[in-house]
Amino acid sequence: MSTPGWSQGYVTDTTYTDRFFRELSPAWLNYAVALNGVRPRDLGRPFTYLELGCGFGVSAIVNAGAFPRGEFHACDFNPAHIEGGRRQAAAFGIGNIQFHESSFQQLLSLDLPPFDFIVLHGVYSWVSAGARQAIRRIIHEKLKPGGLVYLSYNCLPGWAIEAPVRRLLLELVTSEGGDTAQRAGQALSQLQQLSASHLRYFSAHPAAAAAVDSYSKGPGNYLVHEFLNQTWEPFYSIDIADEMAEAETIYAGSATLADNHEALTVHEQAAVAAGKLKTARQRQLAIDFAVNRRFRRDVFVRGAAGHEPREAAPYLSEAVIGCLGNPDRIGSKVQVPRGMITFQEDFIGDLRSLMKRGSMTIQEAAAALGGHGRNEAEIVRNLTFLVAAGALMPFAQARQGSHTAKPRRPASETVERILAQAVEHSAQRMLPSEAAGNGVPVSPVEALAITEALAGADTEAMLAARLEAGIRRLDLKITVEGRELRSGEELASYARGAARNALEDLLPALLRLGLVVEPG
Ligand SMILES: C[S@@+](CC[C@H](N)C(=O)[O-])C[C@H]1O[C@@H](n2cnc3c(N)ncnc32)[C@H](O)[C@@H]1O
Repeated sequence: MSTPGWSQGYVTDTTYTDRFFRELSPAWLNYAVALNGVRPRDLGRPFTYLELGCGFGVSAIVNAGAFPRGEFHACDFNPAHIEGGRRQAAAFGIGNIQFHESSFQQLLSLDLPPFDFIVLHGVYSWVSAGARQAIRRIIHEKLKPGGLVYLSYNCLPGWAIEAPVRRLLLELVTSEGGDTAQRAGQALSQLQQLSASHLRYFSAHPAAAAAVDSYSKGPGNYLVHEFLNQTWEPFYSIDIADEMAEAETIYAGSATLADNHEALTVHEQAAVAAGKLKTARQRQLAIDFAVNRRFRRDVFVRGAAGHEPREAAPYLSEAVIGCLGNPDRIGSKVQVPRGMITFQEDFIGDLRSLMKRGSMTIQEAAAALGGHGRNEAEIVRNLTFLVAAGALMPFAQARQGSHTAKPRRPASETVERILAQAVEHSAQRMLPSEAAGNGVPVSPVEALAITEALAGADTEAMLAARLEAGIRRLDLKITVEGRELRSGEELASYARGAARNALEDLLPALLRLGLVVEPG
């Protein structure tokens, strides 16, 4: 592995995958802590936000677009990441973000404001003890009282079986040649051969063999960054809580929203057994064993000022929720970690109609869904379970959508540029929605469909014809269930489906989300 001085053993010859993480949204973090009775940050006023180890800054850029009143800062020591982030923000016309090419150790020498939010995703388990200490110092010195920290990490006991596999892979890489990605590819083939060669570890731990299989299916640069840093360490959540106490922060909730609801994640018997343990640490550790977690997205709050543990109700009732897609698709059965949960059909029917109006506070939703012999506490619980399952989402703003007259247009030049880039680069992009306070994914075909529909192709037949022509002109690859569509008939039928989806689902959703507007 090449290790130039500034990289501190961190892989730098393979840039990171440019991925977006919705959990980094200020609105999402506010919801996670409100669920646990902790005061959310006021997003109605200007606020500050820092991402540490931002990679290409995809999440930070989208959040900056979704919160124009926020002042965003993004830090990474890899110049290629920072350069890419700056270029992308400029291309989208998003100006409220500053990129800092700096190590965590050097960051405090820059002139930075105190922050309402400090977030780091996919960093803490992959950097040295010195870098982790620097991160805690940044949090200690730069997080405002009541400010929130998002910290994700690989955890135990969920990684216990796979950790030795990573060690083996790391050793195999040492004898290979080429750059890190090439060496990882060669070492991976050797690992696959070994796992298929009656090594007792793999027969004793089928999960380890399954993991080796899965590595070849993910993107190569993911493997490099996940496994091949010199430092890679899974942690127990109780140890992280101790470390974060050094930075005067305490646990306030999980950005993996289902993890805030024991009923959705832990078997009743496990919950009872854990509940009988003597200390809070023992109970927490037992719950980690009950869930066998391997990745956590913990949210911490600074100091007692922000943490007045009490019933979640006061903050939760003001939290805004909405539906990102077509509310008609909200099912009465949803998947949660423990299995499927089923809601009453009539409740879901009323919820679908309500969500078509737009986003609203939990209190407003509960009032509108009340009556019919429904109990308010149960309605609130159902809504939070639906958010945990991903059928609903934490939003930033209560916003009632209207969609009647035409013509329509993209809400901003940023939206227009992102749609154009999704088509031009033939890649999924995120549209920053101020209503959702988050990114809304659009595929290249969806971006093309929206652009054509807004340019006047607003009947299904017209839009399907334009889409089919566009797919051919731009040579967009259309793959369905792993097979590329090539024949004229297949593409025409695909274009009809995509046109229907754009007009029935996507455009109404974008209107509700404030990404497409009706002038006047
Ligand atoms: C695994 S990547 C995660 C990137 C991004 N947060 C994501 O999840 O997509 C870790 C990032 O931290 C950066 N990094 C690692 N050590 C660092 C340090 N000491 N100072 C600043 N950045 C660092 C790397 O360059 C890399 O972009």
